[in-house]
Amino acid sequence: METAGTAARRARERSWYHTLELAPDLVTDGWFDLRPHVARYGLPARMDGLRALDVGTWDGFWAFEMERRGADVVALDLDDERDLDWPPRRRPERFATEPRGEGFRLAREILGSRVERVNRSVYTATPEELGTFDVVLCGSVLIHLRDQLLALERIAGLVKPGGLFVSAEEYDRLSGLIPVPLARYRADRESAVVFWQPSIRTWKRMLHFAGFDRVERRAKFRMRSREGWSVRHVVLHGRR
Ligand SMILES: C[S@@+](CC[C@H](N)C(=O)[O-])C[C@H]1O[C@@H](n2cnc3c(N)ncnc32)[C@H](O)[C@@H]1O
Repeated sequence: METAGTAARRARERSWYHTLELAPDLVTDGWFDLRPHVARYGLPARMDGLRALDVGTWDGFWAFEMERRGADVVALDLDDERDLDWPPRRRPERFATEPRGEGFRLAREILGSRVERVNRSVYTATPEELGTFDVVLCGSVLIHLRDQLLALERIAGLVKPGGLFVSAEEYDRLSGLIPVPLARYRADRESAVVFWQPSIRTWKRMLHFAGFDRVERRAKFRMRSREGWSVRHVVLHGRR
């Protein structure tokens, strides 16, 4: 068992996706600081007694946030980079050998968190294995998937009747200028892997397609990276 000091040193030395407040004097320097955007996601203020799922947790910002509000949280992600969706021309020749999720595990240890991290793709996440949830949050994940509709169907199957789905995804502003539900083809774009970039109108229709009867827009904002570039995001709530 490593000491708190060793864990804190490892946290200072590694690179983080999320800015996480691990201790008063230990805040990670993440690519993305979601703290200014938390209210935009519209999570219940208290989540005591609720079961919550964070799909595509990475370093765990949302999983730890929902736990802080009192929820029992399961966090889903993939340990092996090979299992991510890659356009054939962008699939790396070599992959990291260490399992992914090291940042999450370290943060969990330092926070004394009980969030359970499950190594599983959202494509194969079923209520038979994981149970159902009062709140499912999926942030900036669907945009990186080849089959966004299958992922949404799986998510809908994991939300209890009356439960809440919080979706926060990049959207395409240009497609939104045309009054039909469009998604822009992006699989040959050079930046982060994105296959299809739907407009806000299209994301809403996609949630409805997946089984959410009431879909509402909560917020629209730009998520700024540490380097200064930003990504347009829309937060939608879906209820079954
Ligand atoms: C851009 S990060 C978003 C992190 C976090 N959800 C947030 O809102 O900041 C995308 C995450 O989705 C995960 N992911 C990608 N494909 C996935 C899949 N098929 N099933 C589950 N997670 C996946 C990635 O490993 C990564 O952790």
